Amino acid sequence: MRATLFLSIDPVVPCAETVAVAAQLLRDDKLVVFPTETVYGLGANALSEAAVRSIFEAKGRPSNNPLIVHVPDVVGARKLTADWPASADRLAEAFWPGPLTLVLPGRSHLAHAVTAGGPTVAVRCPAHPVALAILRATGLPIAAPSANRSGFLSPTRAEHALHDLEGRVDLILDAGPTTEGIESTVVDLSGERPLLLRPGTVTPEAIERVVGRLGRNDTTTEAVVLRSPGLLSRHYSPRTPLVLFRDAGDLAALPRDSRIGIVTLGPCGPEARNWAVRVEMPDDPRSYATRLYDEFHRLDEQNLQMILVQMPPEREEWLAVRDRLARASSRPTAEGGNESPTPAPENA
Ligand code: TXA
Ligand code: MG
Repeated sequence: MRATLFLSIDPVVPCAETVAVAAQLLRDDKLVVFPTETVYGLGANALSEAAVRSIFEAKGRPSNNPLIVHVPDVVGARKLTADWPASADRLAEAFWPGPLTLVLPGRSHLAHAVTAGGPTVAVRCPAHPVALAILRATGLPIAAPSANRSGFLSPTRAEHALHDLEGRVDLILDAGPTTEGIESTVVDLSGERPLLLRPGTVTPEAIERVVGRLGRNDTTTEAVVLRSPGLLSRHYSPRTPLVLFRDAGDLAALPRDSRIGIVTLGPCGPEARNWAVRVEMPDDPRSYATRLYDEFHRLDEQNLQMILVQMPPEREEWLAVRDRLARASSRPTAEGGNESPTPAPENA
């Protein structure tokens, strides 16, 4: 059990003293939850085996799932990587600081636990003044997964992290809600050609404009399990069972009860008014992503029996949101695989 300190910090002009407190804790191998533009991260010194191991303990994360290392700039990233191809330079130039993580061959001085013993390391330069101030103040690479218990929703507010991790971390910095709302895009540059491992708000199209054709694994294939164990199985998931549907035509077949919530894309049609708990999500992928986890956290607090969620269209711009919804709706079986909570019209 750790005493968890909770401090507010201005998201635009971070207070230097508060940053210094966080930096000192990180240098002492402690755990610090800090904001990034995507979701809050659970940070520790990436060069310390003990500090990184305590991240896995705090989250209850399987040790075969490697962590993203946060750096203040390309110079910081190059210190961690054994190879820095021209594609990495171009992507960093185009999207850093920002919600893009690059997977590259790693150097050996990193804590073994960071890479899960694998040959590659994931690096990202976050676009949040607080995260950048901490990275500069420590002078250390900071390993930081999302600041939630393993398998559940990522935190888009400090309160979400407090709920999941109080007593398990040393400091939580509260800089208000994050702006991107979902985790970074992850691109693997360690192979022959760039490969999309996790979609995010930096779209495949935007990446392809910079480095050409991007390999897309269907994220449910075995190749991705092997390359990135954390990218498969149930993830990003509310505690309440979640069922996906396509459109108003499916509604007649769905269960209706005062303890079932419904999340629609755009305004609820007259059919959806039969459900007492309703959320209308924006019809635009960026705004949808920003609100997604926040709404799920709120729905989760209402002790619902089930949440019905309308799946956005199968268009590239919706890739990241659809990916998170599909994962949130799958449940682990006893064997550790996936199954849907109940048969759903759309079971992505
Ligand atoms: O936006 C984000 O990326 C947030 C903020 C805090 O930066 N971080 C985050 O970390 O989402 P995490 O640990 O929750 O997700 C990182 C994902 C995992 O699915 C992990 O499997 C994958 O990146 N990953 C990490 N290192 C990898 C590596 N060397 N090769 C392949 N995948 C890797
Ligand atoms: Mg995570």
